[in-house]
Amino acid sequence: MGKDVIIACDFASKEATLKFLDLFKEKKPFVKIGMELFYSEGPSIIKAIKSRGHKIFLDLKLHDIPNTVKKSMKVLSHLDVDMVNCHAGGTKAMMKAALEGLTREDGTRPLLIAVTQLTSTDQMSMENDLLIKEDMKKVVMHYAKNAKDSGLDGVVCSPLEAKAVHDTCGSKFLTVTPGVRFADSAKGDQKRVMTPSEAKKIGSDYIVVGRPITEASDPVSAYERCLKEFTL
Ligand code: C5P
Repeated sequence: MGKDVIIACDFASKEATLKFLDLFKEKKPFVKIGMELFYSEGPSIIKAIKSRGHKIFLDLKLHDIPNTVKKSMKVLSHLDVDMVNCHAGGTKAMMKAALEGLTREDGTRPLLIAVTQLTSTDQMSMENDLLIKEDMKKVVMHYAKNAKDSGLDGVVCSPLEAKAVHDTCGSKFLTVTPGVRFADSAKGDQKRVMTPSEAKKIGSDYIVVGRPITEASDPVSAYERCLKEFTL
């Protein structure tokens, strides 16, 4: 389990996504499909990508009352995806319900990962908008611990937080980390970044990489470079 590169397929349409994935003839990468594509294309996009042999992280970040999340997770488990997520802010009861809904009759289920505080939320907005007055790092670690206590498999976090998450929740608790850039590539709008080999060193289990691969002149070699730096 773990140690893989997940390509963030942030494309506007099914056509653009499948055209991109057609470039990969041999190893089929693990891909992340987000809300925009899923809401515009529906479950058929998942079936199309699955039938081509890819693993899928369906990044829908569920957050609602436990009963609704449980029933929605049940629907997602039948889509045969490999990883899904929900907000730890929905409480332990919600995360436990998510896990229950996700578990299929034969006991198998996709990995379930929690979102702690979004990286778009900073200390000031957390204090002023959410009235959470604690230090951000403490909040993130507390949410990660709640996810672990609820039986989840890991959290999405910055690679800079991966070590602290492992120290708090154990080395088997998965860290899925976006914000990865090659040493020689543009950062784009990501502020705090790490290279794939740095992410490997600090113990990330999965790195989520979008534009350094999707916008590369040769996406297949960019993916292979990323995989090599992260896993070898
Ligand atoms: O193109 P880039 O490598 O920046 O893509 C990173 C992906 O990870 C995007 O899909 C982005 O939405 C997602 N993500 C992130 N930071 C987070 C959570 C998710 O960049 N904290």
